[in-house]
Amino acid sequence: MRFKLPELPYAMDALVPHISAETLQFHHGKHHAKYVDTLNKLAAKTEWADVRLEEIVRRAAPGPLFNNAAQNWNHSFYWQCLSPRGGGDPSGKLADQIRGGFGDVTGFQREFNAAASELFGSGWAWLVREPDGRVAIKTTANADGPLVHGWVPLLTCDMWEHAYYIDYRHAKKKYLEAFWNVVNWEFVAARL
Ligand code: FE2
Repeated sequence: MRFKLPELPYAMDALVPHISAETLQFHHGKHHAKYVDTLNKLAAKTEWADVRLEEIVRRAAPGPLFNNAAQNWNHSFYWQCLSPRGGGDPSGKLADQIRGGFGDVTGFQREFNAAASELFGSGWAWLVREPDGRVAIKTTANADGPLVHGWVPLLTCDMWEHAYYIDYRHAKKKYLEAFWNVVNWEFVAARL
């Protein structure tokens, strides 16, 4: 199998009490694994068989191949946005950019939460850098993500129900609070 499920960069119970081991077992071990599996089946013996994942996401037409490649990429990115040593406030250049774009970190988090909560159906909330260099909050539906739009992804929060339903049921706001407690600012800062 050409595409592999990346290992989580922490233990299944590392994000407790914010995100449970059961959520990660299903989210990484079932949902993400299924996207990888399906991508392998769809790409095998086609012109996409040897193309890099990021290239497939950028170039594939809308449809199952794009959906499974993009979900694979989005999830691999999402796992890195979380850390058991996460939370708190960003620092340095990242903090300056956030203050420049949103006033302060609390204001940024409030806007991000509002955008994520208002997303109708399954999708993703992002902090991205736009081509003009400014940071912006975006939401995308289903498997869609920043690579397709020419935005540089800095941070994402998975807003599919499978990301939070085991721990928080319908309460997206509680999931978003939990997300900020484990957000990996170091990873985000390294993307700038
Ligand atoms: Fe997900």
